[in-house]
Amino acid sequence: MKTDVLIVGAGAAGLMCAITAGQRGRRVLVVDHANKPGKKILMSGGGRCNFTNIGASPANYLSANPHFAKSALARYRPVDFIALVEKHRIAYHEKELGQLFCDDSSKQIVRMLLDECAAAGVRVETSCAVERVRRTGEGFTVLTARGEVHAESLVVASGGLSIPSMGASGFGYALARQFGHAVLPVRAALVPLTLSGKHQEHYAELAGVALPLAEARVGRHAFRAGLLFTHRGLSGPAILQVSSYWQPGDELRLDLAPDAGLGDWLPAQRAARPAAELKNVLADVLPRRLAQRLCELCFLAPQGSDHPWSLSASPSRPMRQYRDAELREIGRQLHDWPITASGTEGYRTAEVTLGGVDTDGLSSSTMQSKLVPGLYFIGEVVDVTGWLGGYNFQWAWASGHAAGEAV
Ligand code: FDA
Repeated sequence: MKTDVLIVGAGAAGLMCAITAGQRGRRVLVVDHANKPGKKILMSGGGRCNFTNIGASPANYLSANPHFAKSALARYRPVDFIALVEKHRIAYHEKELGQLFCDDSSKQIVRMLLDECAAAGVRVETSCAVERVRRTGEGFTVLTARGEVHAESLVVASGGLSIPSMGASGFGYALARQFGHAVLPVRAALVPLTLSGKHQEHYAELAGVALPLAEARVGRHAFRAGLLFTHRGLSGPAILQVSSYWQPGDELRLDLAPDAGLGDWLPAQRAARPAAELKNVLADVLPRRLAQRLCELCFLAPQGSDHPWSLSASPSRPMRQYRDAELREIGRQLHDWPITASGTEGYRTAEVTLGGVDTDGLSSSTMQSKLVPGLYFIGEVVDVTGWLGGYNFQWAWASGHAAGEAV
């Protein structure tokens, strides 16, 4: 069969591109090897889809070329997607930090996109894998599970490698290489970090302990949000955010009680509550189990060991037995606690894939290949990765819209 535009991937970017191109009167076919469209949208935001972030700006994205996302993001903004959501009378709310979620269900976003596709005359075929792509004349001949398709424009919207059970594949990267595009190294991002050996033993019994607010830092990148100790290591939004900047060997540092000013607060507590034990005082600003464990670590750490606490304190010493200088040092360490992560949980649980199709080979205004006219790459397959909080969908909408206007 023949079509003007063939889009591989019925995810966020592919469906937005299809709607935009269909509304321009282009004949559009979307194929996806999964058994239903928008599977990641369905599972996103805990089932409520954090569909955008009202503060989204190029600064919220990682890419080898930080300028690449600017044009598309400026031409399709969060307010444009919000207008679509409101047109479909989908109720939503701002959770925090500009993150917009559906009140009810992510299913509403997929329904909205499919309704818009239908209205624009777009055909969406699921359970339809793409087997081979050839350049023929001015267009492309694509062998799918349902036969050959000839298309003038081919849009690759096949996403990254995260959550293979949801249909993720390396298809887009292989196709990019086939047509001479560079693919930058990929790795799991927005992903829990794992600990191993003695580092895991130190924190293992804290599995399930959550800090409502912590700051996780890698180099100059710092994120303040919740933090969770897990059986394997660390998770929670602060860790997911910083994971995009962490690489094996990098030092991770935690501020376990941001804004608490523990260096002054602890000596003041010594004056006010001299008989109280340190662990009980710390339990005023930290979860009790964490306060207890940190004191034990402090107690166990031999002088001069590589553990941050080298003070020889007992876990149950009353405050009066500490010197002010010791308490100031304990406070300083709790604001700058080093943790040695050994890895990440990988693509099995990662929200996104960092890296991908090198933006050097693409037009930032249309997403079209600079090497092969008519070939486009959009969404997560491209080397543009957003922070946690609706930024990745905003990139999918914006890049999909940019390509949809050009195909
Ligand atoms: P996406 O992965 O959505 O779609 C790609 C499509 O291509 C899939 O349908 C796949 O089946 C198909 N495909 C792959 N290979 C193919 C092949 N060979 N042939 C045919 N089809 C093929 N972001 C955000 O902003 N807010 C949020 O709340 C969340 N929440 C969230 C939760 C979880 C658990 C995950 C894993 C991810 C998120 N994200 C998120 C990230 C967000 O889901 C992601 O960035 C976008 O879905 C990317 O959109 P794409 O359309 O590029 O890829």
